[in-house]
Amino acid sequence: MMQLAEAARRLDPWAVTNALRALAQHEEKKKTGGIAKQLRRLIPHAGQDPGQHKALKHLHERTPRLQLDDLQLDDHVRETCNELILEQLKADALAEAALAPRNRVLLTGPPGNGKTSLAEGIATALRRPFYSVSYDTLIGSHLGETGSRLQQVAHYISSCECVALLDEFETIAKERDDDDEVGEMKRIVASLLVHLEHLPPSTVIVAATNHPEMLDRATWRRFQITLELEGPDRAKLTEFFESRQRRSPRLRLDPGAAAATLDGASYADAARLCDDVERQQVLHPEQEPDDLFRRRLARWATANGNYPRRPARHQ
Ligand SMILES: Nc1ncnc2c1ncn2[C@@H]1O[C@H](COP(=O)(O)OP(=O)(O)OP(=O)(O)O)[C@@H](O)[C@H]1O
Ligand SMILES: [Mg+2]
Repeated sequence: MMQLAEAARRLDPWAVTNALRALAQHEEKKKTGGIAKQLRRLIPHAGQDPGQHKALKHLHERTPRLQLDDLQLDDHVRETCNELILEQLKADALAEAALAPRNRVLLTGPPGNGKTSLAEGIATALRRPFYSVSYDTLIGSHLGETGSRLQQVAHYISSCECVALLDEFETIAKERDDDDEVGEMKRIVASLLVHLEHLPPSTVIVAATNHPEMLDRATWRRFQITLELEGPDRAKLTEFFESRQRRSPRLRLDPGAAAATLDGASYADAARLCDDVERQQVLHPEQEPDDLFRRRLARWATANGNYPRRPARHQ
């Protein structure tokens, strides 16, 4: 009750929501079901948002399926994700102690190494709706248009417990000192920062970028978690191929040879090679699977051998 009074005094709607949730849980424990139900009804959710249909034009909803266990992640990345998931799932317990779970994540790293997949994995683990913001409709040509659409989106994702992905985050969070930018971009970034700060803790926002150097400096500290998803080295590629082979017993390959040929490639490239080999092995059962793999790999070595190499520090 004190938490609710304090949140109301600060005119902080999200603190009020949290306090209501904690109070509802408290009443549920006391078995005063009627009061708990009435309190729960006061907690805002998506269905009550009148601007919902406008915001949904700029949000792409996907059913999250991918599991975090499907991804090969460095230990610290996996641990941090598990911490975030636990905090979100135990938000009521944290709210009772006037604490909030972390909810703002920034993912960086070269293309094809799991940024989008990780966001989906978090949504799957939390069993929450998964939205990604589509910039093609969000960014308008008229003055103020983008800002007001951004506000609709922020309002909508704030009203439901969801995971929202801001992919290619540099598109809307570009460095404001950039000489090419007009005042409009500066305003967009400024309002984006405010929206990020006011998101309720139950809305998990994942921003992802291949170009961290382009981000406005002030955006970094809006995120409580920053993770770099690096490309795999040869040992990690070998691990990846071994794991794919375990998961698809039909797939026959030599993990060490595949990793040597794809050294410097992304996980996405490695996954494509597996799909490619497996397709051939299914379509040509009359041929020796190991021969098929070797021929396919030789083809990859010549046709696809121009992977962007990992920066020297990762080698
Ligand atoms: N860490 C990983 N473990 C296993 N598979 C991965 C991993 N990262 C990427 N993949 C594979 O590559 C595909 C593409 O990855 P994803 O789209 O998540 O990369 P991204 O970092 O978001 O790339 P981009 O920067 O181009 O958006 C995934 O569907 C998955 O098959
Ligand atoms: Mg991506």
